[in-house]
Amino acid sequence: MNAVRNVVRLFVFGSLLLSLSFFTVACGGNTDNNANNSNNNSTNSKAEPAVKFTRAEQATILRLSPLPELPTSPTNKWAYDDKAAHFGQFMFFDKRISANGQVACSTCHEPTKGFGDGLNVSKGLASTNRHAPSVWNTAYNRWFFWDGRADSLWAQAIRPIEDGKEMGFSRLELAHFVANTADIKKAYESIFGALPDISDTKRFPAKGKPGDDDYDNMSDEDKSTITRITVNVGKAIAAYERKIISRDAPFDTFVEGWKEGDAEKLKAMSEQAQRGLKLFVGKARCILCHFGPNFTNGEFHNIGLSLNPDLQRDTGRFDAVSKVKNDEFNGMSPYSDASPDDEFNNKLKFLVQKAHNLGEFKTPSLRSVATSAPYMHDGRFATLKDVINHYNKFPDPPAFSPREEILIKLELTDKEVEDLVAFLQALTGKALPDTLMKQPSSPMP
Ligand code: HEC
Ligand code: HEC
Repeated sequence: MNAVRNVVRLFVFGSLLLSLSFFTVACGGNTDNNANNSNNNSTNSKAEPAVKFTRAEQATILRLSPLPELPTSPTNKWAYDDKAAHFGQFMFFDKRISANGQVACSTCHEPTKGFGDGLNVSKGLASTNRHAPSVWNTAYNRWFFWDGRADSLWAQAIRPIEDGKEMGFSRLELAHFVANTADIKKAYESIFGALPDISDTKRFPAKGKPGDDDYDNMSDEDKSTITRITVNVGKAIAAYERKIISRDAPFDTFVEGWKEGDAEKLKAMSEQAQRGLKLFVGKARCILCHFGPNFTNGEFHNIGLSLNPDLQRDTGRFDAVSKVKNDEFNGMSPYSDASPDDEFNNKLKFLVQKAHNLGEFKTPSLRSVATSAPYMHDGRFATLKDVINHYNKFPDPPAFSPREEILIKLELTDKEVEDLVAFLQALTGKALPDTLMKQPSSPMP
């Protein structure tokens, strides 16, 4: 098994290297032409970064910026709808959709805390066993949650609402809340059309979700009427989350400066951060997993985090594979706006559980990572320096062995660790407009 995996890995990294060198050959000439055409600075000579990079490093770096257009969301036809996004934003901050009226999405994804909660593991109605990841740039993800058990933002959003440790609400309660709260009902209907009549509490009990008798005893048709309302709320929240995008970081200005030969823009990143960048794409090997303009390969790895003594063993990706394949809300489900044979669903169709998935977690994006400490799926590291020191040393055996073979002990000096931290800080994007950082005054735009 392992031998086969190694061969596959070698092949993948072999082709990565090949394509890197191809890119350098193919684009080398272009870069020089830009220099000649540049009239951005008075001397007409092309400004270069303070730190020297090789051609191969340059090619890699120039492909890390800018952030591309948002991917489409074929399973959510409201994803691009501004009215839905406004309504979703209202719901994101609404504590009424929790069992005790105290917990909203924003409780654990607080805008001023980098859309995280600053805690090691999150606490809603009770303590959870994982750290709240930031919502920054999740619209670019292929899989959601640390273990990827949801395949879209909207499918993800439904889970915490019904999770007993998070918001502890239920789809029946949510449907009645929407139907019985005048301004919410009005906003909902202006987007999704007239609500069905769910006032008959014999057919539509006050409370319940799958697994609860009150819900399970309903007819299939009534179940789907109720579930559809929750799904629509999830789709609206997802439309809002598509606006939580971190872009235009100092790093992006630096790359622009490099492409244009603009000395001023190149200064957006300090020399220290530039040295960190060189390590990031070189000796420190971060680029092997944190690649592309969103600084993640979107895949799952075991990076050798040891068992957390405070938490239960967490199998990570391993158990999530069957969960997402059978998810009531995945892209193949009747609640998806894409047909089962949409290209979007290929990721589900070809997904197979592998032994090495044990203890694997999703590679997070590093955009605005400095705004959302602490770090990792269990929030074990308080600072970025602690994270890098982990990659530097691997102090304990991993919770599930083996860890990813491509990870080696880096043995970076303290100064190099600081350089890498400075680079990660240069990935903090422009602040969002204030209007997106809080609950709007009304669910209606
Ligand atoms: C009690 C705290 C808590 C609440 C409330 C909460 N979340 Fe989370 N959120 C978490 C935790 C913890 C995770 C990671 C869970 C996991 O991976 O199993 C998470 C994961 C996510 C992710 C996945 C990010 C990624 O990179 O895959 C998104 C998006 C998200 N939450 C949005 C929401 C929305 C929308 C709501 C409200 C409907 C919400 N959360 C409510 C704690 C919370
Ligand atoms: C083998 C792939 C891989 C490599 C190489 C790698 N990472 Fe990671 N990185 C991950 C994964 C997977 C996680 C999440 C692990 C977890 O929580 O269990 C992660 C987590 C992180 C986090 C925490 C982010 C957060 O929001 O919690 C930071 C910061 C980070 N990596 C930076 C780096 C840096 C810097 C390097 C190079 C020194 C690097 N990574 C190399 C895969 C990798």
